[in-house]
Amino acid sequence: MASGRRARTLLVTGGAGFIGSNFVIQHLQRYPEDTVLVLDALTYAGNPDNVKVAMQHGERFEFWHGDVVNPEIVQALVGRADVVVHFAAESHVARSIFDNRVFFQTDVMGTQAVANAVLKNADHIERFIHISTSEVYGTAVHVPMTEDHPLNPMSPYASAKAGADRLVYSYVATYGIPAVILRPFNNYGPRQHLEKLVPRFVTSALRSLPLTVHGDGSAKRDWIYVDDTCDAIECVLEADIEVVRGEVFNICSGEVRSVLEIGDAVIDAVGADRSLLATIDDRPGQVQHHAGSREKTSRVLGWQSAVGFDEGLERTIRWYRDNPAWWEGLDWMKQIPVRLRDGRVVLH
Ligand SMILES: NC(=O)c1ccc[n+]([C@@H]2O[C@H](COP(=O)([O-])OP(=O)(O)OC[C@H]3O[C@@H](n4cnc5c(N)ncnc54)[C@H](O)[C@@H]3O)[C@@H](O)[C@H]2O)c1
Repeated sequence: MASGRRARTLLVTGGAGFIGSNFVIQHLQRYPEDTVLVLDALTYAGNPDNVKVAMQHGERFEFWHGDVVNPEIVQALVGRADVVVHFAAESHVARSIFDNRVFFQTDVMGTQAVANAVLKNADHIERFIHISTSEVYGTAVHVPMTEDHPLNPMSPYASAKAGADRLVYSYVATYGIPAVILRPFNNYGPRQHLEKLVPRFVTSALRSLPLTVHGDGSAKRDWIYVDDTCDAIECVLEADIEVVRGEVFNICSGEVRSVLEIGDAVIDAVGADRSLLATIDDRPGQVQHHAGSREKTSRVLGWQSAVGFDEGLERTIRWYRDNPAWWEGLDWMKQIPVRLRDGRVVLH
């Protein structure tokens, strides 16, 4: 055990997904004295192969297949935990435009179930980390976007996450639960579903298939490597709770790139043909400009991202190149149903 550090039990919801699985694996490696319970419904986005990696840690890891909306399951697991890290969500903007019901169920009602269980177990829950998203801000009114930037969610996904984000805040204001709200910007890295931009581009480039850009590709985002996000979460887990309770923190890198720039970078790094970059109709609900302020995380937590975009992209490409079995069967999921503004429903 690390000196002076008490062993903790963490409940991680959504731990079979992209960021959740990276967090669980890194946490188990970093803190051999801790136990991690994962609650995950294994939706299309949850991957049992991600869970297998964590299973190598034996009894220190438990996988619980179940729905975060179910209060009994959540209550039973929160009852055993010291810390809750809540990732479980429907997470794809464009899917929320086609069919948003499950987004409100999981992202809002699931968060309510977790927050209620945290409240019921207030005697032993040390902290509850709620993973929100920068999508709650909408397109930047001012850059860089500070944590008090207006919330103008531009898609059903973003509005469901904004509801959950403020729900957690209201539980801090009303009941004083030890919650912290994190707003990561665009993450990329190993084990990300192929529906998301970077893995879609990387796996297409590796197979010499078209890299499809929606709209003119000028939309800009802050791109953060997933290990940095996991590191920021660890930092919040160690921070003085009286300093961070009820606070919101952006998790971003300052590495702002347009979609076209990402496409170019992937093509260069893979050595693919530039003619593979192809533009098609835009998807509605997209944020045009997103660049986060890193000032508060740096000032309050003393945390900054460590992995630059070129390095992060190289690591990501290496992982997808080395792990074709993880993703080859999922190629068809790059295309998703999208409802256009004129009412047409198409596979994009
Ligand atoms: N990926 C990003 O760039 C990004 C950026 C900002 C915030 N976030 C947030 O981070 C969190 C994790 O994102 P991700 O990219 O890893 O998502 P993901 O889609 O890869 O994983 C989500 C996980 O949640 C599980 N899940 C979905 N519905 C569930 C339910 N009802 N009960 C239990 N489990 C359920 C899925 O099976 C999956 O394992 C989400 O809350 C997302 O909103 C993601």
